[in-house]
Amino acid sequence: MSSQKIGIVGSGLIGRAWAMLFAAAGYRVQLYDILESQLATALQELDKDLHRLEEQGALRGHIRASEQFALIGVTTRLEELTREAVHIQECVPEVLQLKKRLYSQLDELLEEQTVVASSTSTFMPSLYSEGLKKRKQMLVAHPLNPPYFIPLVEIVPAPWTSPSAVERTRDLMLSLGQRPVTLKREIQGFATNRIQYAILNEVWRLVGSGILSVADVDRVLSQGLGLRYALLGSLETAHLNAPGGVADYFQRFGGEISAVSATYGETPNTQEDRETLAEIARQCEQLVSLEKLDERRAVRDEFLIQLAKLKKQFE
Ligand code: NAI
Repeated sequence: MSSQKIGIVGSGLIGRAWAMLFAAAGYRVQLYDILESQLATALQELDKDLHRLEEQGALRGHIRASEQFALIGVTTRLEELTREAVHIQECVPEVLQLKKRLYSQLDELLEEQTVVASSTSTFMPSLYSEGLKKRKQMLVAHPLNPPYFIPLVEIVPAPWTSPSAVERTRDLMLSLGQRPVTLKREIQGFATNRIQYAILNEVWRLVGSGILSVADVDRVLSQGLGLRYALLGSLETAHLNAPGGVADYFQRFGGEISAVSATYGETPNTQEDRETLAEIARQCEQLVSLEKLDERRAVRDEFLIQLAKLKKQFE
């Protein structure tokens, strides 16, 4: 149990999720937002969510929901947030100018021991930290939604981020029970979106060329590959799929992999290919209408809780 202070900038969806993760591990959490009303709503939501998770038997950590909630405070003053914080998790909207403005304010306030991690899904850390005095203390720690049930965090340093900031962020994530991966250097899309986009490009091509329906292309993952991938990565999957392990796998199937890969064709232009987009949207909305998206998200999260429990046993 720790009494170290964690600051969170932005109390929206992701900021609140981080607040719950840190409080579950016993950290003192302070949430900062520009809107006082947003902080009041965030506290109400947190209180509700923590107690709901407790009722479902899905609360993380070893202390009760009310004790976790008591660890979370709020402020609308950035200078109060930065005071004595060991880590600040930035969760403001995905707008580069907004992030840049915030980081230059933080640059004036950061204490020496504080690391600032951005939750950004898209911006490499050099894009907003270049030229700042405290840029060594800044990096990306990108979660996946919903972070409470998906443990992966991508830690991405800028070229100037200090190795100790990277190491401390990694240790901190492990102390929450999250599963960090550390990129050696920043790259557009980090790792998750690079892999996710490779999949999206190919399902787009398969639907766009009329080979598979949306329901069927999604079944390839949800009823096929995804079941293995929920437990193992693609390389360990390959390792288990040949008698002599991964080297044997690529010896046997490498030729086929290259031959199929040569037929992929161009990267789809998902903004300009309106015909395919309209078809994908039509079929997706037949599967889940726009009015039912929230309901479906709730079901997904409910079953993610079960999956997270099962994975713990697997590990
Ligand atoms: P959100 O819109 O739910 O919340 C943003 C919060 O930031 C709001 O409470 C807003 O009042 C506050 N805010 C705006 N300007 C601010 C400022 N200057 N200072 C302090 N607070 C400010 O956004 P969400 O979805 O929580 O996203 C936050 C970050 O997390 C983004 O960088 C996003 O890319 C990243 N992320 C989002 C995921 C998602 O699925 N929503 C998944 C992984 C990362």
